[in-house]
Amino acid sequence: MAKIFPLSEFNSLRTPFYFYDLPLLDQTLAAAKEAAGSPLYKIHYAVKANANPLLLKRISGAGFGADCVSGGEIQQALENGFAPESVVFAGVGKSDAEIELALEAGIGCFNVESRPELDVIAEIASRMGKVARVAFRVNPDVDPHTHKYISTGLKENKFGISPELLAPLVETAVSNPSLDFVGLHFHIGSQITEMGPYELLCERINALQDEWNAKGITFKTINVGGGLGIDYQNPDANPVPDFRGYFDVFRRGLKLREGQELHFELGRSLVAQCGSLITRVLYVKEGLSRKFAIVDAGMSDLIRPALYQAYHKIENISSPDAPEQAYDVVGPICESSDRFAEQCMLPEVKRGDFLALRSTGAYGEVMAMNYNCRPHPSSFAL
Ligand code: LLP
Repeated sequence: MAKIFPLSEFNSLRTPFYFYDLPLLDQTLAAAKEAAGSPLYKIHYAVKANANPLLLKRISGAGFGADCVSGGEIQQALENGFAPESVVFAGVGKSDAEIELALEAGIGCFNVESRPELDVIAEIASRMGKVARVAFRVNPDVDPHTHKYISTGLKENKFGISPELLAPLVETAVSNPSLDFVGLHFHIGSQITEMGPYELLCERINALQDEWNAKGITFKTINVGGGLGIDYQNPDANPVPDFRGYFDVFRRGLKLREGQELHFELGRSLVAQCGSLITRVLYVKEGLSRKFAIVDAGMSDLIRPALYQAYHKIENISSPDAPEQAYDVVGPICESSDRFAEQCMLPEVKRGDFLALRSTGAYGEVMAMNYNCRPHPSSFAL
């Protein structure tokens, strides 16, 4: 069934804006929690997907932890109800100031991505009289079959550490009194819609655990990252992702040790479907062979189509029953890539109509920029 938008509320708002359906967010969070099931399965919401306080408060309130990649995200998470010990801090380039902030706040864990980073964390923790909990991000060499810009678990890239290079880092982590070694972290990529890559990830983790246990090293936590994809084509048929299928892969495939915690860092799957970018049609321009619906949102408000050739379903929510025509839906920015769709069938579009760009709750508002001195899009939630 088509989604019903609160059009009368939209009339007084400045477009473009992100509209968030909070009941759908709540339903998604509840489904994820239920499917995760075990108290040993902990979900850290990947704040990078959407850092809007309206959403963060709901997510922290529902009992999720936070996966952060900058000092700014850590602050934003703490200000919006996440407990410090439920925060994990990832990223290949943590600055000294960010490490200090994280130690001061008492976050749960640093996901460390290189030798020099480990040394700097140890040095700063020692200077501050603190102990830093650390996990190592390991590259499992699993191809997630997704867009190349969001594939991260392959053998050699800027993220993570190759298993062959891990031994001296583990040695330091278990012997340095300023460090508390908690486990291993993995993340293979984003918008993953097949379960095969996760099954392979489980096999890789099982082998690594066996290898390290044989050397007398155990892990308190295993963190498998995020990446579960959503249905961009059919947001109304599949508003809530198949969390059960996802968690079952790990339940079946991973040989967890007694009492071992399994951590997840889901971003997109929790927030994408609850968000829509709402824009107004400024002009309908007739070309030689095409019609252009020129809207007031641009790639500065939603960059995914320009950056990843991403598809977002577009709907004419002002005139849903008009006869359909083909349009290129384009923004006002001076770049040819400022285009949301090419030859997209839409109920006939007029100046002033609202269009909804669906499934934009993840990596939409957070990636907005001010190119062309455009203001940041606003947001509205119901
Ligand atoms: N953990 C780590 C270490 C990550 O790098 C990411 C995403 C996540 C968790 C959350 O992944 P998710 O569950 O959201 O797939 N801007 C791109 C996506 C970039 C993802 C970066 N890392 C997009 O718009 O598709």
